[in-house]
Amino acid sequence: MKFVSEIHPPSIIAIDGPAASGKSTIGKRLADKLGYLFFDTGLMYRAVTWLALQRRLDLGNEAAVTTLAESVPIEVQPASQPDGRSCDVIVEGVDITWETRRPEVDANVSAISAYPGVRRALSAQQRRIGQRGNVVMVGRDIGTVVLPDADLKIYLDATPEERARRRYDEIIARGEIADYDEILAKVIERDRIDSTRDVAPLKVAEDAIVVDSDKLNAEEVFQQILVLCKTTHRPYLGFMS
Ligand code: DC
Repeated sequence: MKFVSEIHPPSIIAIDGPAASGKSTIGKRLADKLGYLFFDTGLMYRAVTWLALQRRLDLGNEAAVTTLAESVPIEVQPASQPDGRSCDVIVEGVDITWETRRPEVDANVSAISAYPGVRRALSAQQRRIGQRGNVVMVGRDIGTVVLPDADLKIYLDATPEERARRRYDEIIARGEIADYDEILAKVIERDRIDSTRDVAPLKVAEDAIVVDSDKLNAEEVFQQILVLCKTTHRPYLGFMS
């Protein structure tokens, strides 16, 4: 048995940032490039919100929503279909991936994700998966709370106006009708709820690298993050036989 000291590329990569900052698109691309698992934690909060709506729970009833989050296993798995999804979301054997993107989920998910009991239940599951390594995990509190020992922490930022513009362009590109001012108001409101809640608010981890994507296109953001991965190493100290 000999003692070895080596360097390895980052195994646990946390990407946090506000709504519509491009975390999922960039995170998925990065995970595919590295051969890592991609895990979008926002999907878990969305799944609980959708389930609560589906079961007609009073969304203001924190205890009832928390019990739901604690009792229903939510599986976030690698995407099984090439239909634009970044992950599959499976609940009780049913694929609810696209249900989690419905407007009524968008409207309520920030409030649901502010419940401490919901966060406790979901963060524990996220941590277990993240600690296995070889993972790109995206969310709001990954670098600060879920995986504070992540090897590389990125905070992907952009102004509310730029994020609203991207959302607007996406909707128009799908041939649907969109109102920019309405989208901007929703982005600002979600930022407010996500960053002012008592538990695990959205904020930049002390050791995170902020990537400001305002003046960059998706390709430029990706290349910048790839450089960060190539220049960040985690030390490995251990014994090898
Ligand atoms: O990234 P998203 O828009 O799919 O996230 C949905 C909601 O979930 C958002 O309002 C913030 C919340 N969220 C959170 O509080 N913590 C996370 N780690 C991920 C998402």
